Amino acid sequence: MKGVVLAGGLGKRLEPLTRITNKHLLPIYDQPMIYYPIRTLVDAGLTEILIVTGGAHAGEFLRLLGNGAEFGLKHLDYTYQRGEGGIAEALSLAEHFAAGQPLVVVLGDNIVEHSIRPYVERFAAQGQGARLLLKEVDDPWRFGVVKLSGEQIVRIEEKPTDPPSRYVVTGIYMYDATVFDIIRTLRPSGRGELEITDVNNTYIDRGQMRYDRLEGWWTDAGLPETLYRAATLVREQRVTAGEMALAHEAPKRQACV
Ligand code: DAU
Repeated sequence: MKGVVLAGGLGKRLEPLTRITNKHLLPIYDQPMIYYPIRTLVDAGLTEILIVTGGAHAGEFLRLLGNGAEFGLKHLDYTYQRGEGGIAEALSLAEHFAAGQPLVVVLGDNIVEHSIRPYVERFAAQGQGARLLLKEVDDPWRFGVVKLSGEQIVRIEEKPTDPPSRYVVTGIYMYDATVFDIIRTLRPSGRGELEITDVNNTYIDRGQMRYDRLEGWWTDAGLPETLYRAATLVREQRVTAGEMALAHEAPKRQACV
């Protein structure tokens, strides 16, 4: 299994922050945004990772990440998306890299609290088809929203004005290699993009879509408000981890006195 981080697009919703750099190089607390999805894949056990980027500052990714040594990787792959043709178009650029293997895809602006390794293991056991991670949110209209019938996903609606549920599709997708055949059949949506929701609906129609409910917090960071929220959540996590480490060390320190 291989990993893909989608960090293309132009990040227009973060103007003017994205006028002089790429959205995924902006800071989330103490690290650039792109570090988080890469870490998500590495923590899930993936060692072969492709970064799909784009825009005017793509060269900066190479300068920042190099071959991924900071993440314990021997090598990172890169590819370039021209323009902003949509998430599915960005994913289509990974076909050569995938070389017939299944993929775990993470959107470059999606940040999670916990490891996704258990879900990736379930996908590996699944053998074929696709797997999504769902989250219940208060503002479903901003996302791809699932319509459930019992425990079954029957449809996903992209940014609906009247959401069919509060369960949304997070930007972590697991696909078998037929995903590229599906993308070839897509037509651009009303906003001129190849939509990942159309890919997911095809797997649903085929009866090959499974899902898990994602544990822990999850956020995107593509709006000023969510960029701020992401930094706050990461900071809280770091502070708590630091406090726990200190509490753990305290008895040892006392013993030394
Ligand atoms: O965050 C989860 C949501 O992400 C899903 O619930 C939606 O179904 C899905 O469409 C997507 O919605 P957004 O409107 O938030 O996607 P956005 O256009 O902000 O793109 C998210 C990331 O995808 C972006 O940080 C980089 C990558 N991307 C996006 C586009 C449009 C690309 O690599 N290339 C692209 O052309």
